[in-house]
Amino acid sequence: MRLTLHQTHLALDRGSVVAIPTETVYGLAARIDRPGAIDEIYTLKKRPRANPLIVHVATFEQILSFLDPDFQQMQALELLCARFWPGPLTVILPVKPQKLSRGIRAELPTAGFRIPAHPIAQKLLGSTGPLVAPSANLSGSPSATRAEHVENDFGRQFPVLDGGPCNGGIESTILKWQKGRWAILRPGSILPKAVQMALADGGIGQEVITATSIDPSPGSQFRHYAPRAALCFDLSKITGSVAILGFDDRQYKRCDRLFSLGSTNQPTVASRRLYAALRELDICGVNRAFVDLDLPDEGLWVCIKERLLRAGGQI
Ligand code: TXA
Ligand code: MG
Repeated sequence: MRLTLHQTHLALDRGSVVAIPTETVYGLAARIDRPGAIDEIYTLKKRPRANPLIVHVATFEQILSFLDPDFQQMQALELLCARFWPGPLTVILPVKPQKLSRGIRAELPTAGFRIPAHPIAQKLLGSTGPLVAPSANLSGSPSATRAEHVENDFGRQFPVLDGGPCNGGIESTILKWQKGRWAILRPGSILPKAVQMALADGGIGQEVITATSIDPSPGSQFRHYAPRAALCFDLSKITGSVAILGFDDRQYKRCDRLFSLGSTNQPTVASRRLYAALRELDICGVNRAFVDLDLPDEGLWVCIKERLLRAGGQI
């Protein structure tokens, strides 16, 4: 069921959960002061309670109101805010525990914050105040980048604020200050180099590490982004004609059906199409698909490959 902006605001105030658009993926939103709705998010998504939710806000000042006053990295945080917000960056910060319920934080002393860039999300957050919003998909399934993806997972009657297809298509980069340095816990379209440059431009010359395997975020221990179809990554093992998740500008000898991520020159298009293509495999009843991962080990491709390998249960 599609809601208007006004209806969405009213529904959230009443303590309902509503799917909302962001520039990365759709989120399953609830007001932070509606414990029933927060509980419902976990139930709806079948999400393990040990996997905390991130908080979406309209302004940096709102984030400051949650922040532990002893946090030492204020200068860096301000630089990150100026460079990347609004946008697809989530920063994990230590919080005043009384300001955010344990349900949101999964009992952790920290919480993730993000100022989304989608104009409709901005408008909504400007009037509702902070909203928690995990990705609007069943836990483990591919994220939702269109209103109809949300309806596929939660039913046609589920309330959705339709903001059109998400422009980014991949969840936000997650960044955390830990053990004396900034670490990326989940790769996204904001690359480690860009974070490092933003800090360096402000006089903070620090290496930004990728910590996904050393010190992962709580969510990364659970299966992610997976379609029902089995994904195979070794194209040399193809026998007979098969479904291939690949690219228009590549030739595949035994391709029965191509699920296209666009061209190998356009990583932004591939990221925008990624979850729709994974979902399409299931809609078309494909049991097994081969995935073309022969892509550069740089930039946004690294992130796309990470999502595909996770979708195939390889990491
Ligand atoms: O782009 C996005 O980030 C989307 C849109 C809707 O904003 N949201 C999203 O939320 O991807 P979710 O819940 O699907 O993923 C958030 C990730 C989870 O893996 C969770 O474990 C991690 O953030 N996370 C949340 N709070 C954390 C914390 N305090 N410490 C470490 N990781 C945290
Ligand atoms: Mg998710």
